[in-house]
Amino acid sequence: MPGGCSRGPAAGDGRLRLARLALVLLGWVSSTSLPSSASSSTSSASLPAPAASGQPALPGRCPAPCECSEAARTVKCVNRNLTEVPADLPPYVRNLFLTGNQLAVLPAGAFARRPPLADLAALNLSGNRLKEVDAGAFEHLPGLRQLDLSHNPLADLSPFAFSGSNASVVAPSPLAELILNRLELPAAERQNLSLEGMVAAALRAGHALRGLRRLELASNQLLYLPRDVLAHLPGLRHLDLRNNSLVGLTHVSFRNLTHLESLHLEDNALKVLRNGTLAELQSLPHVRVFLDDNPWVCDCHMVDMVAWLKETEVVQGKGRLTCAFPEKMRHRVLLELNSSDLDCDPILPPSLQTSYVFLGIVLALIGAIFLLVLYLNRKGIKKWMHNIRDACRDHMEGYHYRYEINADPRLTNLSSNSDV
Ligand SMILES: *[C@@H]1O[C@H](CO)[C@@H](O)[C@H](O)[C@H]1NC(C)=O
Ligand SMILES: *[C@@H]1O[C@H](CO)[C@@H](O)[C@H](O)[C@H]1NC(C)=O
Ligand SMILES: *[C@@H]1O[C@H](CO)[C@@H](O)[C@H](O)[C@H]1NC(C)=O
Ligand SMILES: *[C@@H]1O[C@H](CO)[C@@H](O)[C@H](O)[C@H]1NC(C)=O
Ligand SMILES: *[C@@H]1O[C@H](CO)[C@@H](O)[C@H](O)[C@H]1NC(C)=O
Ligand SMILES: *[C@@H]1O[C@H](CO)[C@@H](O)[C@H](O)[C@H]1NC(C)=O
Ligand SMILES: *[C@@H]1O[C@H](CO)[C@@H](O)[C@H](O)[C@H]1NC(C)=O
Ligand SMILES: *[C@@H]1O[C@H](CO)[C@@H](O)[C@H](O)[C@H]1NC(C)=O
Repeated sequence: MPGGCSRGPAAGDGRLRLARLALVLLGWVSSTSLPSSASSSTSSASLPAPAASGQPALPGRCPAPCECSEAARTVKCVNRNLTEVPADLPPYVRNLFLTGNQLAVLPAGAFARRPPLADLAALNLSGNRLKEVDAGAFEHLPGLRQLDLSHNPLADLSPFAFSGSNASVVAPSPLAELILNRLELPAAERQNLSLEGMVAAALRAGHALRGLRRLELASNQLLYLPRDVLAHLPGLRHLDLRNNSLVGLTHVSFRNLTHLESLHLEDNALKVLRNGTLAELQSLPHVRVFLDDNPWVCDCHMVDMVAWLKETEVVQGKGRLTCAFPEKMRHRVLLELNSSDLDCDPILPPSLQTSYVFLGIVLALIGAIFLLVLYLNRKGIKKWMHNIRDACRDHMEGYHYRYEINADPRLTNLSSNSDV
């Protein structure tokens, strides 16, 4: 569809030019009061030198442990055991690789510099043993589009990590791609902490990530997707939830993700998709859904999903989906099932059946022993029954007697008078 393709960018270009114009005007206004400030943000194509040359010291030098390429606008500080972000990052940097270090904590304004790193667009912090990312850690990076925090044991991600250190004025984040794969928490911390809740809080804080287009949350052992997290990310195009432990999507709403193009749900623990989810996915205009390698349960609850699969174009490789349970349906292709195959069989699985048989035998034995004891004691029991009956009779007679006294009003009066 060349027509559609050529129109999209053209409209985008127009908007971009408008935005540039606005920036230039803004720059001009601010430069009247603050000489040589916002010039670098407008010069994305031209030389970045003016921004740096206006400052006294700090030329575009390279921090000692890093490799810099001004032509590629790239700085790499890879596998250097750095414990903090280098202070003297060159102002031209557009791609910053700070991977394989020992940062541990990312404080507020960790990348705030004077002049700001206005062109920094891609920041890779993967594999840094990061435990803590504070509120406003990515403040003063107006051009940041892509952030990779993967492979970090993030136990303390501030809800305002992507918005700002001042919680009362949430700044919209410029981020378009956020990559949070393999946040490998130690098992002990995992027990106390809800990674789901922590990530959701950071994603929804003040709607700061409205502009997010790609979100990757793969290999995080997520058990569920918090209910309202997607509602705060209306611009999402790509959502990657591969290799987690999602059991169902019943509480998740995809309805408002009208721009969604790809939804990766491979390698989860999905058993079935319910009617509501099916209808929502079907209503999204551009989406492609990936559902491979889930343990689909082919019983009567699967009827709606199988019927939907046969019709829909939304699921990629739908012919590859197979049942995992029950045993008799294992490896059957979902698309080839018809509703007569899908019943909810009350017959128990064999392992459970043997355990029930065993339980039955034990109960029968206990019952037999009890009866035997009763039989051997039959004389004693008979005597005991007689005793009880006699005792009851005595008691009942006493009760009868008292009842008759109480029922007779004269006697009642008499007794109450005598009390006084
Ligand atoms: C980083 O630390 C490890 C272990 O402490 C050491 O083996 C390695 O040589 C260090 N790397 C650098 C670049 O200093
Ligand atoms: C970030 O760096 C890691 C390690 O080099 C790499 O595997 C990953 O693909 C990078 N992320 C992005 C978005 O390029
Ligand atoms: C946060 O922003 C509010 C409103 O602009 C301001 O009054 C307050 O002083 C700020 N707080 C901090 C800690 O900067
Ligand atoms: C988990 O919580 C318990 C009690 O709240 C605490 O004793 C324990 O130290 C915590 N474990 C970790 C790893 O934080
Ligand atoms: C899936 O995630 C687990 C951790 O949750 C990880 O150990 C494993 O390597 C991942 N598998 C793939 C194929 O990425
Ligand atoms: C979807 O968007 C509409 C309006 O934009 C809003 O009223 C509604 O609450 C949203 N639904 C969900 C589930 O977020
Ligand atoms: C699911 O939807 C289909 C068609 O819209 C309908 O026939 C079916 O009864 C629904 N199933 C449930 C469980 O509501
Ligand atoms: C259902 O499948 C069986 C074989 O798996 C086939 O014999 C039967 O005709 C199918 N029924 C319908 C309604 O397609």
